[in-house]
Amino acid sequence: MTRLYVEQFLSGKDIARSNPAAAQMENFAYLVGDLDAGVCFAVDPSWGPMDLVEIAAKKGLKVQGVLATHSHADHVGGSLWGYPVPGVARLVAELGLVVHVHRLDADSLAHQTRIPASSVVPHDDGAVVAIGGVAAKLHHTPGHTPGSACYEVEGNVFTGDTLFLQGCGRVDLPGGDPAEMFRSLHQRMVSWPGSLLVLPGHDYGGARATLDEIRRTNPALRMKDPTAWERENR
Ligand SMILES: [Fe+2]
Repeated sequence: MTRLYVEQFLSGKDIARSNPAAAQMENFAYLVGDLDAGVCFAVDPSWGPMDLVEIAAKKGLKVQGVLATHSHADHVGGSLWGYPVPGVARLVAELGLVVHVHRLDADSLAHQTRIPASSVVPHDDGAVVAIGGVAAKLHHTPGHTPGSACYEVEGNVFTGDTLFLQGCGRVDLPGGDPAEMFRSLHQRMVSWPGSLLVLPGHDYGGARATLDEIRRTNPALRMKDPTAWERENR
């Protein structure tokens, strides 16, 4: 038996409360785990990583690893326009954790966070990471970055900067690719069940909603014509 645990934390409010930059970025971090096994993983622990460890401990859960949706500093730590973000480096140094990420963001993650390559576990599309008895399945959804990924866990999906409740992640940053983002949103995600609960990487338009609801209301998913998409995202 497994009992799923999922909790969402807004940066600057639920974690890293004293950090104004954390509040400004409106990042969501998550804990996802198996209550029976007493273990959990942190998803995109950038701001206040040790706050997450403390919260987990109060629930009797040990943080065993990290799932990273992509390598940007506001999700995994490092330097955000020169501003230091503690992120996974703290968890690697203090708890010896490893960070799971799609293969194409593995090098940039190690570089950005300055953790050793040996602390990064690169994965391909479809890989399954075990969190106690709970399975997290990686879906490669490039576009925001080459190795952007979503993690599906028992009816939930952590979408990072690929999909928000309103809109999708930027495609004009280094490594961004509008055509790949279009394919991720309109081809790769098409087979996903509408009942999936989308848990995004930022509070852009809301904290959570089913994929069905988002398909109805999100302009990035409603815009199904590739030519119109290209015009908007040039
Ligand atoms: Fe990002």
